[in-house]
Amino acid sequence: MADIIRPESMARITTPELAEAFIAEQVAAVREQVGDKKVLLALSGGVDSSVVAALLIKAIGKQLVCVHVNHGLMRKGESEQVIEVFGKELDANLIYVDATDRFLDLLAGETDPEKKRKIIGNEFIKVFDEEASKLEGIDFLAQGTIYPDILESHGVKAHHNVGGLPEDMKMELVEPVALLYKDEVRVVGDALGLPHTMVYRQPFPGPGLGVRCLGAITRDRLHALREADAILREEFENCGLAGKVWQYFVAVPDFKSVGVRDNKRYEGWPAIIRAVNTVDAMTATIEEIPYAVLHKITDRITHEVEGINRVVMDLTPKPIGTIEWE
Ligand code: XMP
Repeated sequence: MADIIRPESMARITTPELAEAFIAEQVAAVREQVGDKKVLLALSGGVDSSVVAALLIKAIGKQLVCVHVNHGLMRKGESEQVIEVFGKELDANLIYVDATDRFLDLLAGETDPEKKRKIIGNEFIKVFDEEASKLEGIDFLAQGTIYPDILESHGVKAHHNVGGLPEDMKMELVEPVALLYKDEVRVVGDALGLPHTMVYRQPFPGPGLGVRCLGAITRDRLHALREADAILREEFENCGLAGKVWQYFVAVPDFKSVGVRDNKRYEGWPAIIRAVNTVDAMTATIEEIPYAVLHKITDRITHEVEGINRVVMDLTPKPIGTIEWE
C-alpha cells in the first residue's frame, strides 16, 4: 500500500453537499484514470466496498465488473441484498459466485480459529482469482481501502482482513475513498442513495459467521447461528438499539445442554449474545440491554430456531475478552 497522507487542508465530509462535491470530483478523477478500460471490484456488501461500487457505477457504469463471493458465512439476507441493490437496482455488471460448498467442505472438522481464518482467506483469494482469470481486458482493480486501513497497515493492526487480494495481481489500483474516514464514507454512501441498512451496517469480520460458529463448523449449527443472529438484529432494530450499539451478534458454541420442548427432552446449543460499544475495537464495554428486550429475544430464539435451547449473555469487557469469541 502506498503511503498516502491525508492533506491537512482536507475538510471532513459531514454534509450531503460536501458529499456531492466529493462524488463529482471522484467521478471525474476515476474517468480520467481508467478511460475506456475495465475495472474489477471484490464486492462484499460491506460499507466500504459498497460505496466504492456505487461511486464507480456512477462514474463508469458497465466498465466496472463487481464480483460478489458468497463464502457461505454471510449473515442472513446479505448476499441477497447485494444482488438486489447492485444487480437489480443499480443494474451493475455483477458476477455472483456461490462458493458455500467449497468453503464449508474445506472448513469441515477444523477447530483452530486461526486455521479457520486462513482457510477462509486463502479460499477467498482463490475463488476471486478464478473469476478474474475468466475475464478479459481488465486493467484496474478497485478497492474499498479507507484512511484508517492505511494508518493501521503501518502499525499494530495490519491484521486478518479477509478480502485482502493477491499481491501478484498485475493491475493498477483504483481507490476512490482512500482518504476518507468511515463516517465520511457513510455520508458519501447516503448521498449515492445506497440503503440505510447497508451504509450504517455494523462492522462484520471478513471470515463472517465462521468465527462465530465456534469450533468445527457444521451446516446445521451454522444455520441455527444465522437464524438466531437475524432475530437479534431484528429485535435491536425494533427497540432502537441497532443505531446505538457498536457491534452485536450471536455466537454458537459446539456443545449441547439438556432442555425440554413439547414435554420431551430436547438437547440443543446455547446462543451467546454479545453487544459491545467501542471507539477503535481495541477495548470495548458492555451495552446494558433492558431485560424486557432480552426476554423477547430469548423467547423468539428458543421457539423459532431449530437446535437452540438456551440463550445466554456475555458480559465480558475487552480486555479481557476479545470482541469475537475466536
Ligand atoms: P477482536 O475479536 O479482535 O475484534 O476484539 C476486534 C474487531 O475486529 C473484528 N475482527 C475481524 N475483522 N477479520 C476481520 O476483518 C477477522 O478475522 C476479524 N477478527 C475480528 C471484530 O469483529 C471486531 O470488530
